[in-house]
Amino acid sequence: MKYTKDKEFVGKMFDEISPSYDRLNHFLSGYQDNRWRKKAIKILGELQPSYNKILDLASGSGDLGIEFMKLHPQILYSVDISREMLKINDTKLSNDKNITLRAEAEHLPFADGVIDLCGVAFGVRNFQDLEECIREIARVIKPGGIFLTIEMFKPFKDTITNRSFKVYFEKVLPKLGNKLSNSKYAYDYLFESVDNFITVDSYNTLLMQNNFKFIKVKNNFLGIVHSVFAEKL
Ligand SMILES: C[S@@+](CC[C@H](N)C(=O)[O-])C[C@H]1O[C@@H](n2cnc3c(N)ncnc32)[C@H](O)[C@@H]1O
Repeated sequence: MKYTKDKEFVGKMFDEISPSYDRLNHFLSGYQDNRWRKKAIKILGELQPSYNKILDLASGSGDLGIEFMKLHPQILYSVDISREMLKINDTKLSNDKNITLRAEAEHLPFADGVIDLCGVAFGVRNFQDLEECIREIARVIKPGGIFLTIEMFKPFKDTITNRSFKVYFEKVLPKLGNKLSNSKYAYDYLFESVDNFITVDSYNTLLMQNNFKFIKVKNNFLGIVHSVFAEKL
């Protein structure tokens, strides 16, 4: 597989793996992914008393959206480029507060400064033009609003644990994931997308350069999976 973040390719890939996405996400993360989302929601609840308009960007099948509902928003927008992921989102979050929209993170269908909280879980790594998306996210969040990112960043420490994890992640997980999802390449893409991504420090710098103020970073797993909290200036 030749690694690319072309939007059309990425959207089709997620369409293709959508039926097995949730099951494999939980299994391959050792059933930790929902724990990371829940911890982030707890921190968001401590940061501000309420969030009226929440945007779950690159929402996929809606696991972050389910957690966002616990913050009692007036409205939740679930936005993604994959039609098939959004169909699953619709069935999992079938209430009138959730609005699913097919749109690109590069061109969000919202006016300036209308969103109180935007969250992207395991999405920013897939964005074709990360900086353009960050600028667009900054545009739609209101001043004082919060931007949460949960992501697998490129590890900056070369420890024995990280090297062992890399063997699993590069050699074992793609074979297992491709087989279980009936995809020829989706889990090779997963490894490549993390290997070619930036560190959490570089990501924070990018946020600071684009109108965000640092709040905190939580290391969820091995200095790879982090939750990043930032405030729109
Ligand atoms: C790994 S899934 C994460 C889904 C979900 N947030 C979760 O926590 O499980 C990444 C999602 O990002 C979406 N995506 C990738 N590039 C996108 C873009 N440019 N704009 C909007 N969504 C995008 C994909 O379609 C896919 O559903």
